Amino acid sequence: MNPVIEVLAASEVDRLEHLWGQLLGHHSRQAPHLAALGAVRTPEESWRLRRGQCLAWLREPLAAVLVARDANQLLGYAVVRVLDAPGSWQWGDRVGVLETLVVDEEVRAAGVGRALVGAARERLAGEGVQVMKISVIAGNDGALGFYRREGAVDFVDTLLMPVAD
Ligand SMILES: CC(C)(COP(=O)(O)OP(=O)(O)OC[C@H]1O[C@@H](n2cnc3c(N)ncnc32)[C@H](O)[C@@H]1OP(=O)(O)O)[C@@H](O)C(=O)NCCC(=O)NCCS
Repeated sequence: MNPVIEVLAASEVDRLEHLWGQLLGHHSRQAPHLAALGAVRTPEESWRLRRGQCLAWLREPLAAVLVARDANQLLGYAVVRVLDAPGSWQWGDRVGVLETLVVDEEVRAAGVGRALVGAARERLAGEGVQVMKISVIAGNDGALGFYRREGAVDFVDTLLMPVAD
């Protein structure tokens, strides 16, 4: 598959709701251990929150929603941002962040994810950014395999500790 990759206007974010719902379902299936800390939100509520977050990100100068499409069909999307994050390693004082990546269940394993990640990397490289941070929910081993195949390396293990009974 050879999808067209383009930047989605903020006014069009509601087109992403269906794909976000797929990602939410995927995460809840892949990480059932997290339900011990709190139930998964409904798709509607989760999208309402994510929509607000996404619109806030898009007010940042370098953030973008990248969509993959075939004619008028939306095949997947990625959200990319740039943060100030000087750290102990010399990979620049700003890092890219891949906030979301999801490909429609109907068209996975056909190169769409690779095309979106490629577009995100190209965009960040054009801004002089050297690395892109990606968070993967524990249990989503397929995504880890995908990112490693694209050249990503392990960075941080994030844990959640309950603090109240
Ligand atoms: C992970 C995801 C974005 C990958 O997109 P995709 O379009 O299915 O992947 P592609 O077809 O572009 O695959 C690119 C390469 O990664 C490999 N790959 C894809 N999915 C993989 C998986 N689950 N495990 C291991 N490797 C994988 C492919 O084999 C391919 O390598 P190859 O060309 O050498 O065979 C997509 O499967 C998806 O949306 N998954 C559910 C949501 C999700 O987990 N998102 C990531 C959240 S952090």
